[in-house]
Amino acid sequence: MRVYKAGVVGTGFVGRIHIETIRRLGNVTVEAVADITSARETAEEMNVPYYFTDYREMLDTAGLDMIHICTPNNTHFEIAMYALEHGVNVLCEKPMTATVEEAEKLAAKAGESRLIAALNYHNRFYPMNHHLRSVIRSGELGDIFSITGTYTQDWLLNSTDYSWRLNVEDSGKTRAVADIGSHWMDLVEFVSGQKISAVCADFTIIHPVRKRPKKQVLAFSTDQFSQEDYEDIIVKTEDSASILFRFDNGAKGSAFFSQVIAGKSVAIDYLIGGYKKSAEWRSAACNELVIGRKDSFCEHSEKGPVTVHPDSRPLVAYPIGHLEGFPDAFKQCFRQVYDSIDNPNAPRDYADMQDGLHEMILCERIFTSNQKQQWVPIE
Ligand SMILES: NC(=O)c1ccc[n+]([C@@H]2O[C@H](COP(=O)([O-])OP(=O)(O)OC[C@H]3O[C@@H](n4cnc5c(N)ncnc54)[C@H](O)[C@@H]3O)[C@@H](O)[C@H]2O)c1
Repeated sequence: MRVYKAGVVGTGFVGRIHIETIRRLGNVTVEAVADITSARETAEEMNVPYYFTDYREMLDTAGLDMIHICTPNNTHFEIAMYALEHGVNVLCEKPMTATVEEAEKLAAKAGESRLIAALNYHNRFYPMNHHLRSVIRSGELGDIFSITGTYTQDWLLNSTDYSWRLNVEDSGKTRAVADIGSHWMDLVEFVSGQKISAVCADFTIIHPVRKRPKKQVLAFSTDQFSQEDYEDIIVKTEDSASILFRFDNGAKGSAFFSQVIAGKSVAIDYLIGGYKKSAEWRSAACNELVIGRKDSFCEHSEKGPVTVHPDSRPLVAYPIGHLEGFPDAFKQCFRQVYDSIDNPNAPRDYADMQDGLHEMILCERIFTSNQKQQWVPIE
């Protein structure tokens, strides 16, 4: 079996999850990490052979097959470009970039490079989401006429909660929409097979001024600081977004994305309405899928190797009753990405740079729709 060498740039919240997940694949080693602040600590704590403060040095010297990009959004473009120019495959965190212009250039570069350039829209890889895609394709739900749902969190509820995501320069023009909404939109488009064709958005900022700690804070940090450790910042991006959608088959939908709903640590859900049946999935019970019927009992199915569609069986690692969740969805996404390096016929259900560009365009149009307070089409 060929063993691949991975490097991880950005060893904050999600970078460390990538390191653990890569190691679960079995045929990939974490050769090196790069981080401007914490490369050495991470390498020591997680037993990674090489560490760098500059990702370029890592790409130039570590002999990598794949770089995992786990840094803030505004750095994805330059790191991914450098990797593709130097012949290294890319697995980049979402959102793809900070701007549509960067995403267009990167998608073009990926298209001409013949390297793997994937995005970690991992929600596609929960087995019941992947299974539902086959159910919908089979026509079991009938024609789809509505797609609704939410993605809510509470980690930015207090005015002292801070992340680089609050800065437009680091994150991009939208925050709740790009950071979590893009996950929901990618997921429902993947599952339903329908693309969003128009949006109408309304944003809310609950803290126009927030307190920024003068020290570095990683995502989902619970660090406590005293009053003098904070400075005021003006917030320009949305805490919440209410959005209406039109889909290309004529279906209508709506979603609420928010990072400030108390008690919702991470909650993603959708309800898809068809002329025959409906389908409902929630991340809080991610191993279950409910198929709704009008004239009979609703069907509650549970993730398991024999309960999912044959196409989804490779995503089920453990028997029925053995729960699989967030890190397992990462693992299944990564497995497909690595499998496709040497096997052009391997399944490619993961998001690529064209999908990432599409999500960036959706975020941009949603931003414009909120500004204009009117419907905006997606060309
Ligand atoms: N797929 C998911 O579910 C998921 C979850 C969380 C985060 N993310 C994405 O992952 C990315 C990182 O988010 P996070 O929550 O881990 O952030 P974080 O703040 O916890 O970590 C970011 C790390 O990147 C480092 N860094 C910043 N600029 C760098 C550079 N130029 N070179 C090297 N290192 C640099 C920082 O020092 C920090 O250690 C974001 O794009 C985010 O949207 C995805």
